[in-house]
Amino acid sequence: MNIPQKLLIIFFLNLFATSGYCQQPGVSAIATAHPLATQAGEKILRLEGNAFDATIAVASTLAVVEPYSSGLGGGGFFLLHDVNGQNVMLDARETAPAKAHRDMYLDKNGEVEVDSSLSMEGPLSAGIPGTPAALVYLAKNHGTLPLSVTLAPAIQYARKGFKVTERYRRWAKFRLKLLQRYKYSAQIFLYNNDVPPLGYKIKQPQLAKTLEAIIKTNGKSFYQGETAKQMVNAVRNAGGIWQLSDLKNYQLKKRKPITGTFGGMQITTAAPPSSGGIVLMSMLNILSGYNIDKATPVQQKHLIIESMRRAYRDRAIYMGDPDFVKIPVSRLLSKNYSSQLRSSINPKKATPSNTLPGVKTKDSSHHTTHFSVLDKQGNRVAATLTINYPFGSGLVAGDSGVLLNDEMDDFSAKPGVPNAYGLVGAEANAIESGKRPLSSMTPTFLETDNHVAILGTPGGSRIITMVLLAALDFKAGNKPDSWVNLPRYHHQYLPDTVYYEPDAMTNDEVKQLTRMGHQLKKLQSPYGDAYARYGNMQAIMWDKKQNKVYAASDPRGEGSVSVFK
Ligand code: GLY
Repeated sequence: MNIPQKLLIIFFLNLFATSGYCQQPGVSAIATAHPLATQAGEKILRLEGNAFDATIAVASTLAVVEPYSSGLGGGGFFLLHDVNGQNVMLDARETAPAKAHRDMYLDKNGEVEVDSSLSMEGPLSAGIPGTPAALVYLAKNHGTLPLSVTLAPAIQYARKGFKVTERYRRWAKFRLKLLQRYKYSAQIFLYNNDVPPLGYKIKQPQLAKTLEAIIKTNGKSFYQGETAKQMVNAVRNAGGIWQLSDLKNYQLKKRKPITGTFGGMQITTAAPPSSGGIVLMSMLNILSGYNIDKATPVQQKHLIIESMRRAYRDRAIYMGDPDFVKIPVSRLLSKNYSSQLRSSINPKKATPSNTLPGVKTKDSSHHTTHFSVLDKQGNRVAATLTINYPFGSGLVAGDSGVLLNDEMDDFSAKPGVPNAYGLVGAEANAIESGKRPLSSMTPTFLETDNHVAILGTPGGSRIITMVLLAALDFKAGNKPDSWVNLPRYHHQYLPDTVYYEPDAMTNDEVKQLTRMGHQLKKLQSPYGDAYARYGNMQAIMWDKKQNKVYAASDPRGEGSVSVFK
């Protein structure tokens, strides 16, 4: 190396050192929906595990202590930033079993009437799970600790039990009849065939064994061994269509995340088969043409709602499993297309959704879980995992102790059937053998020169608008505490209604927006305003300039955070 080259390198090294930006946070942070999961992640990080080891501990613990949200019998998306590599999304979404077909939920006359309980309850509602494959992959490719260490907290809680909380009781009550229907489910999740009392300990010894078998066989037991046999037998005995080959053929997929920019912020987010990333970027692209910070609160809400309406319309028309349908991603995210969408927005009036031809898709469950992890080296994970409806299909698969998902309900209910406007659509998300149902889960990283944010939330189709509102709040300079507390509102094209939390709109805003043509509906609950709120966001922010790390757990849930050296 000659002298000028050396000087140039020294100059850049000095610039780096004096620029005031920390390259590593030096502290770790975890935000999850359950204190025991946060503790499990912290324990692993304190054992010198990295963010990916902690992710295995958190995801497996949530699978035990939040059985109504996620589990080994479900799937999800893990957005990874490995300081040694590129950002990647692990797609552990459930797949339709080989014998699944597009008409499987039509009634016996072949009429278009859908027996919705078949796609939401019991053996026919369950897709082939992906979460165990992701945990094994993470351990092998990104982690530093063996599964015997990272799965230990989950095994302990499965064997020794965890205490029933208010939240557990609410969801058990919501699906009580379903849980009563299946012997193992009632034995494990109920007490005297009823909702267990507060503080009652739920023990899952069979699930502990299944987790131990995953350690011993590096996951093979779940997809090709004893657990696979137990699950297939249980599903078949209950009238389902799973085969051993469905589990053997399950493939975890690595996807390139959806990326984009908005007002100096870099966004890295979920790729298909989640619609989350494309819809999020599409809304931000539309909004990038406005000076949203300078707009009045009513004007701001109007423009945000109009962007939601348009992006969700495209979700319904174009999106499905990218291995089965060609989603025009580049076009949907292009500047031209977003200016076209923007030009259809009247700044003074709501656009009725029925003047924008499209198709209706089903609203998905508001359940699921999200967690965020940052380790002191700067590795990070945003993971959103699900079994779909609370307690999924309600079916515990025999001696495996695995509660199966009801993710099949995320496929289009009636592909090819004309909707209220006479349009045929939602083909992109029709049921096909081996296909993944379209999701809304949106684990996301936001980055500016000074900050890194890790966030996500459960909430079905409302997930994406929650992440949008949080991203706008991040851009406005606020911290995780503000993002998780934000009052929320949501529009998804059809129904043509803005749903809002009780404190999300003032009376005057409601009046003005109504005058502009918006139909608004305040969310209500017989149990009071606190229960009319939705979402359970878990978020972390690293301020690189001040080298400070902040974490916040949504006050709507029972989660907790930990930030530590
Ligand atoms: N099951 C909820 C989702 O995937 O969006």
